[in-house]
Amino acid sequence: MDNLGEVLKELRGVSGFISGDHIAGKLHVSRTAVWKYMNQLERYGYDIDKSKGKGYRLLGSPDKLYAWEIDRYRASTAIGAKIIHRDNLDSTNIFAFALAMSGEPEGTCVVAESQNKGKGRLGRKWSSPDGRNIYLSVILRPMVHPSNVYPITFLSSLAVSDTIEQLTDLRPALKWPNDVLVGQKKISGTLIELSTEADMVRFVVIGIGLNVNLEMKDMDREIKPKATSLLIETKKTFERPRVCGILLSNLERYYGVFKTNGPRAICDIWEEKAQIRGKYLEINQMGEVYAGQAKGIDRDGAILLDINGTTKKILAGDVNF
Ligand code: BTN
Repeated sequence: MDNLGEVLKELRGVSGFISGDHIAGKLHVSRTAVWKYMNQLERYGYDIDKSKGKGYRLLGSPDKLYAWEIDRYRASTAIGAKIIHRDNLDSTNIFAFALAMSGEPEGTCVVAESQNKGKGRLGRKWSSPDGRNIYLSVILRPMVHPSNVYPITFLSSLAVSDTIEQLTDLRPALKWPNDVLVGQKKISGTLIELSTEADMVRFVVIGIGLNVNLEMKDMDREIKPKATSLLIETKKTFERPRVCGILLSNLERYYGVFKTNGPRAICDIWEEKAQIRGKYLEINQMGEVYAGQAKGIDRDGAILLDINGTTKKILAGDVNF
């Protein structure tokens, strides 16, 4: 946690005022430095009562995904060790990809309050209104062959699904390849983008969009019938930094499984949770529709469909229930 996080911790640790002297002592900085931190916090949108005799009192915090707010709830060590926050980006994936190209280490995470060009799978747009949801990209540098990267999408959906289960009574469903649904409506999606080099993965960017405090009125017309949010489903608002911190912790846990037990282990967990085996599915692969009984997930993340006794392997597409 950086110094602003430490100052906030002190402010939040008391119900009333706390003296500048006390904070200065705790942080081993001067009282002038503390005063500067308070001004900085105000510029970030915190409401601070400053009294000459009594010190400082926190009256209100902004609803923002600042790194130090996410850190309060984050149990991960590498994933999210560095969090870059922006009010607006074209896309957190584009930003994280550029950072990764210039050598940014594994675990760095980019979050934005809004995106102008939020990217969805298969060239679609990801609706990204301001201050409501989570738009997050994480840089990973897994030591695997490019053909083994696909299960990272599953790892992400599993982390999102666990996060929702930890925070609510909802029981999300997983839809191949990258959707998390609640009551048949999409609440989250993952877009992974990668850079490869010969037979090596240079890096992977996991981009996650999770609808948190989104209301029906904030939704674009075309997504209204098929999208939902934690707020819509539970009628409660959520502290987005908390959701984000728990999500990063879950991502690290599943990434650990991926690294230790291999991509197949992630496919197995996903397959089990999605209860896909034996289901009758229709999959639209670039305009071509395949219908059959799901036999499971292949080691490279493809779905295996039994179509009249012949197994068809499908790598990309949309599932219709
Ligand atoms: C999908 O289901 O189509 C994938 C959606 C992925 C959206 C997220 S939001 C954060 C990150 N930045 C982007 O531009 N896209 C991903």
